[in-house]
Amino acid sequence: MHEFKYRDHKLFCESVDLRELAGRHGTPCYVYSAGTIRENYRRLAQSLEGLNVRICYAMKANSNLAVLRLFSKLGASFDLVSGGEIRRVLKAGGDIGTSVFAGVGKTSEEIELALRNGVFSFHVESEPELERIDRIAGKLKLKAPVAVRVNPDVDAGTHAKITTGKSENKFGIPFDRAPDVYRLAANLKNVEIRGVQIHIGSQITKTEPFVAAIEKMRPLVEKLKAQYGITYFSIGGGLGIAYDEALASGDPAWWERVDGGKNLLTPERYGRAVVPLLKDLGLEILLEPGRFMVGNAGVLLTRVEHVKRAPDRNFVVVDAAMNDLLRPAMYEAFHEIVPVAENEARITADVVGPICETGDCFAKRRELTGAGEGDVLAVFSAGAYGYVMAGRYNTRPMPSEVLVDGDRAAEVTARETFAQMVANEKIPDFL
Ligand code: LLP
Repeated sequence: MHEFKYRDHKLFCESVDLRELAGRHGTPCYVYSAGTIRENYRRLAQSLEGLNVRICYAMKANSNLAVLRLFSKLGASFDLVSGGEIRRVLKAGGDIGTSVFAGVGKTSEEIELALRNGVFSFHVESEPELERIDRIAGKLKLKAPVAVRVNPDVDAGTHAKITTGKSENKFGIPFDRAPDVYRLAANLKNVEIRGVQIHIGSQITKTEPFVAAIEKMRPLVEKLKAQYGITYFSIGGGLGIAYDEALASGDPAWWERVDGGKNLLTPERYGRAVVPLLKDLGLEILLEPGRFMVGNAGVLLTRVEHVKRAPDRNFVVVDAAMNDLLRPAMYEAFHEIVPVAENEARITADVVGPICETGDCFAKRRELTGAGEGDVLAVFSAGAYGYVMAGRYNTRPMPSEVLVDGDRAAEVTARETFAQMVANEKIPDFL
């Protein structure tokens, strides 16, 4: 599932030695494997054979321009959630005309930008939004293609902050109200009903919630097809990845070997579960995977600054922090942490960043090797929702990003400079 492997006790991304890379580009630094992304895309597409599928990469997971160019070359479309994302796709040479625009709070400017660039469809989350889209399309003398996001009220069994398909979430139109909203759409002059959409949550590691949601939707989808001639059903994203044992999961045989009873999600399992439910609908099936595509295709490299020994525990203080990778602080997320060069030294420690908050912690009581002062560690499964959620807390610059492809490596985002960090700030005259 990914191309981060040890050779001779040194961790490589494809054919590139990560310790050398850290030396060249500095730390903290995100490193992505192009080969892994290509392979993830290929496997997912292959596992859905038998369906008329369009993969709209949910670029919120990783929107680096080079990553977008890679997806665009693979033939992917995009799941967009902001004007900024639309502009990124345009800049990377991607196709807006096959992409979808989602989100609960689309502004008038964003709607206009999407319409002017011929977006394939809006995923509408409320009646006021539908009316706003109609108004703006009318003004531009265009017809806005739309699909309603229906909330199927199934429990995805994932973290509370990333579940979306329950009725208490802010997302979508309640299942029972969907027919009314389609009726409203049909009466609006400047919108054209094109599809229907669901997305039940993120980091879903079982097939059952996907199956339950699709089964619940099927009668409605068939009705919408008969009544309004919809041409597609988007089943959203949400495919989970292995965070525990993420390193081992780079070995394709690993899944079958350790899986006894765990029923971890693989693209093949996902495909086997959903294809039979969708193939006789006679609709194009859209998918919006984000994390699955890039999560295990990226690591965050960080250097150990100090090893601090306290009476009841040890701390490995690294140069990355919660501003660089927010997931552990925000979701108590587990990320595997390994050295880029293995050695005999062992320590059990909390891996913490330098930020003045207790929450700035990547791991608790973790057994580590090769984690002495000056050593470089790789934080795994950081390719999705890593850099994109980074910030500048404690006036720490945005980290750099490097893309590896075979034996080539290129910096695709430079580390931010102090001048860039303060470029938009002004001290007013009255001070
Ligand atoms: N489609 C819609 C409508 C979404 O809201 C999302 C994610 C996706 C697709 C892609 O989901 P994925 O395939 O990546 O699971 N920051 C969190 C994840 C937030 C997901 C938000 N929506 C994290 O780091 O776990």
